[in-house]
Amino acid sequence: MLDNPLRRWLQGLRGKKGQPPVLVKELHERDRRRVLRHLLALDKDDRLLRFGSMMSDDGITAYVGKLDFERDIVFGVVSNVFQLVGMGHLAFAPTEGRTGTAKAQVAEFGVSVSASARGQGVGTRLFQRAAIHCRNSDVDTLYMQCLTSNKTMMHIAKKAGMVVTREYGEADAHLALPPPSPGSVMAEALEEQFAAIDYTVKANTRAAVKFFTPKK
Ligand SMILES: CC(C)(COP(=O)(O)OP(=O)(O)OC[C@H]1O[C@@H](n2cnc3c(N)ncnc32)[C@H](O)[C@@H]1OP(=O)(O)O)[C@@H](O)C(=O)NCCC(=O)NCCS
Repeated sequence: MLDNPLRRWLQGLRGKKGQPPVLVKELHERDRRRVLRHLLALDKDDRLLRFGSMMSDDGITAYVGKLDFERDIVFGVVSNVFQLVGMGHLAFAPTEGRTGTAKAQVAEFGVSVSASARGQGVGTRLFQRAAIHCRNSDVDTLYMQCLTSNKTMMHIAKKAGMVVTREYGEADAHLALPPPSPGSVMAEALEEQFAAIDYTVKANTRAAVKFFTPKK
């Protein structure tokens, strides 16, 4: 999956057939409210799939309140009307007894896509971006936990070459990552640049529309 990250990135820019390209950007403190709005809009089934347990609005608010944009990495995809339609949270944790990694840290990934934006490659692109970021951060294993009933996520995991272990309705998936290469570093840097321009244009357009729309 990650053999030629630059080519993969260019292919990803084309988007799925008939769909616009999906650009993944790193989110920051100023996006916290957007992240909260995105997660609160998930219905109860999606919350169960995303967090592995029932999450109330208060639980989600607490989760978002604790997000540390400096320590962890949060990725997002915004729509044409500057709504956050996809979000991926990459958290780094000490290896602590996990086998198969030579590094001090591993990464864990969780992702969600708004119902209106599914099937357009947003989840896949968020996952690919997380994987390439891990690779460039010298992390060699990316973990993901999901319910075995989560057919879409299981499909994405297997397509990415993840090794999936199932137990009691839960699936532990992990992906072994190669070391960084000039191509992987370039692919991530280019994507962030493109996504930052796209984000700024959409944010400014949204601000202009708001400004010129007469108040009721
Ligand atoms: C899982 C989720 C992130 C996927 O997002 P998405 O943007 O729709 O994903 P993509 O469009 O990139 O890819 C979906 C893939 O799954 C496939 N798929 C969809 N429904 C499927 C199903 N029932 N069984 C198998 N595959 C399925 C699609 O065909 C597509 O495959 P392709 O790229 O090979 O054509 C989204 O559905 C979601 O947010 N779900 C709720 C939260 C969640 O489950 N999070 C994951 C736990 S960490």
